[in-house]
Amino acid sequence: MAGTMRALSISEITEGRDARLVEVPIPDPRPGWALVRVRGFGLNHSELELRRSEIRADYIKKPIIPGIEGVGEISYPGETGLAAGTRVCMLMGGIGRSWDGSYAEWCLVPASRLFTIPDAACGLPWSTLAAIPETYYTAWGSLFEGLRLEASDTLLVRGASCGLGYAAVQIAHALGSRVIATTHRCEYAQRLRDFGADKVVLDDGALSRAGIRAHKALELIGPRTLQDTLGCLWRGGICCDTGILGGVFTLDRFDPIRGIPNGCYLTGFFSNYPTQEAMDALFSFIASHKLEPYVAASFPFDRLPDALALQDSGGFQGKIVVTLG
Ligand SMILES: NC(=O)c1ccc[n+]([C@@H]2O[C@H](COP(=O)([O-])OP(=O)(O)OC[C@H]3O[C@@H](n4cnc5c(N)ncnc54)[C@H](OP(=O)(O)O)[C@@H]3O)[C@@H](O)[C@H]2O)c1
Repeated sequence: MAGTMRALSISEITEGRDARLVEVPIPDPRPGWALVRVRGFGLNHSELELRRSEIRADYIKKPIIPGIEGVGEISYPGETGLAAGTRVCMLMGGIGRSWDGSYAEWCLVPASRLFTIPDAACGLPWSTLAAIPETYYTAWGSLFEGLRLEASDTLLVRGASCGLGYAAVQIAHALGSRVIATTHRCEYAQRLRDFGADKVVLDDGALSRAGIRAHKALELIGPRTLQDTLGCLWRGGICCDTGILGGVFTLDRFDPIRGIPNGCYLTGFFSNYPTQEAMDALFSFIASHKLEPYVAASFPFDRLPDALALQDSGGFQGKIVVTLG
């Protein structure tokens, strides 16, 4: 499909206020890759990191169109076996880092990174679908693959007042689990309750000393608080380390013998390996439980720079989404 499209294309550190949409060629089809007409995408913390620093790394293709996830329709199937017009989502792998991503009108995506959106969820508007793939898949995988969450569990979500946290609270509540959510700002407590938290705790860094206990713990602050979170588990409990909101990426001087309580388990979750089976289950769960993602703000594509500027400024809750007509 010859012609040009609008996209954000960057080669150097780019603040949202400096971002500009440009005309670039529509990607050339190749076997095993489908051309997707992008209808929406959510903004992610990792894309902020890309714009602000990671763009300098050797492993990032340059210039690059950012965007690690998106939703849309197949324009040109490219031998992927998907029919033109099929509603799909795409996420992770090298999207928006090793090859051009979703901040564009069209995106060329390998078959392994494309997932059909089941009929049950196809009636949802693009602005809702756009908030789902990366954030809800990460919550879903952390809760069910990582934590093996069950309705009878009490779940601790540490660092719940982020996009991923709200999704996890919402899913666990819909399942029937009791949810304890922590936040760093008391003004977010009511919103967490609205999304299904049974109890909200203002995190002072010492939850185990305060007697907070759970069967399962989703750690979104990361290594900064992980040791304390492990101390909140009942015997047989599981902690899944998924986030790094605390800004500390690795465990220093961690002694697993004393650090992981007897009979408890520590695991992690990385959203890089979605499957069609998991995406089907996730979208069906969202549709059947009528879950509404927490959309902080929705922007039309030509206002992408404003969306990025909002992301840069912080102080918002939930997911920023961008939609294309
Ligand atoms: N393992 C994986 O594969 C995977 C996948 C996706 C995301 N993640 C990670 O999961 C975390 C959340 O991702 P996200 O996309 O949902 O992030 P996000 O919504 O973009 O994170 C920003 C939000 O987190 C809030 N926040 C900052 N520090 C907090 C704290 N200590 N406690 C609670 N909330 C806090 C901020 O509130 P204020 O602005 O008011 O401070 C802001 O609303 C990130 O660390 C991300 O890197 C991991």
